[in-house]
Amino acid sequence: VKKVWLDCDPGHDDALAIILAGYDRRLKLIGVSTVAGNQTVEKVTLNALGVLTAAGLRDIPVAQGQAKPLIRAPQICPAIHGDSGLEFHDGGSMQDYAVGSPVLEKAVLYMHSCISSHAEHERVTLVCTGALTNAALLVTLFPEVLDSIEIVLMGGCMGTGNTGSVAEFNIQSDPEAAKIVFECGVPLTMVPLEVTHRALATPGVLQRLTARPTPFLQLMHKLLLFFAQTYRDVFSFEHPPLHDPLAVFYVACPEAFKVKRMRVDIETCSTLSAGQTVCDIWGQSALAPNATVALEADISTFWEAMISALLKADMV
Ligand code: BDR
Ligand code: CA
Repeated sequence: VKKVWLDCDPGHDDALAIILAGYDRRLKLIGVSTVAGNQTVEKVTLNALGVLTAAGLRDIPVAQGQAKPLIRAPQICPAIHGDSGLEFHDGGSMQDYAVGSPVLEKAVLYMHSCISSHAEHERVTLVCTGALTNAALLVTLFPEVLDSIEIVLMGGCMGTGNTGSVAEFNIQSDPEAAKIVFECGVPLTMVPLEVTHRALATPGVLQRLTARPTPFLQLMHKLLLFFAQTYRDVFSFEHPPLHDPLAVFYVACPEAFKVKRMRVDIETCSTLSAGQTVCDIWGQSALAPNATVALEADISTFWEAMISALLKADMV
């Protein structure tokens, strides 16, 4: 069983990443931290508490992280995730479910002590599904964690971006933080848009949720319907891609992925392409590879794991 810390900005797909991390039998979720991204850090923290409460995971500690990128102005994403950051199709919001509060310590400090106490025999996997601001501070302030963690992140792209022509939102939100993380020397896996854009919540998937009309599964259904509508409006996607749970799934089931080691550099200077993950697929860089990049995933195995986690959460 792999120990996982999830750093996220819920966010519709982050919500499902939390549930997968909380219920996949191959994983043990030891904590959740939040970072500004899809919405302000206060809103995404309430959303994280709401997801954990609704999914019966209230004993998982939540630590509130950074409110702003290291250098740049915050960039939020209401067009996709709504004003609260996690809205439902019928006008409700995940914040209505939030019970409890985050721990008093700032996320980076709490993550450091929690991860250090869990990493005695093997590395803890830090899964990042938002901007890399907290992760960059963690490895900068506490370089000793480099021996205690590996990082698996949803972010970046080899070609076309989503919030930039060649940049993906999580990396584009804080390129300087991403540069620190990609260059820190920790074992790192990137699950890019090319993979996550294949994990679509199709009507077939939704049907498997509506087959059991419990309050929790209805909530998940309403969440996915909102996400489907915004993805239709903004990107003309027929069905919404569930980016973030793919990074969690990689930790649970790496054998379901085709990957390649390569050099990935983060563009921080350009005004045109800041946040681009420059992927040296053919090994032309003089620099050593620093990332394992997911190229493909077995999407039907992913959905089996995701739906099984949702059904388990529903039984709690
Ligand atoms: C990423 O951006 C966010 O809106 C999603 O939660 C995901 O982490 C996809 O680019
Ligand atoms: Ca996210």
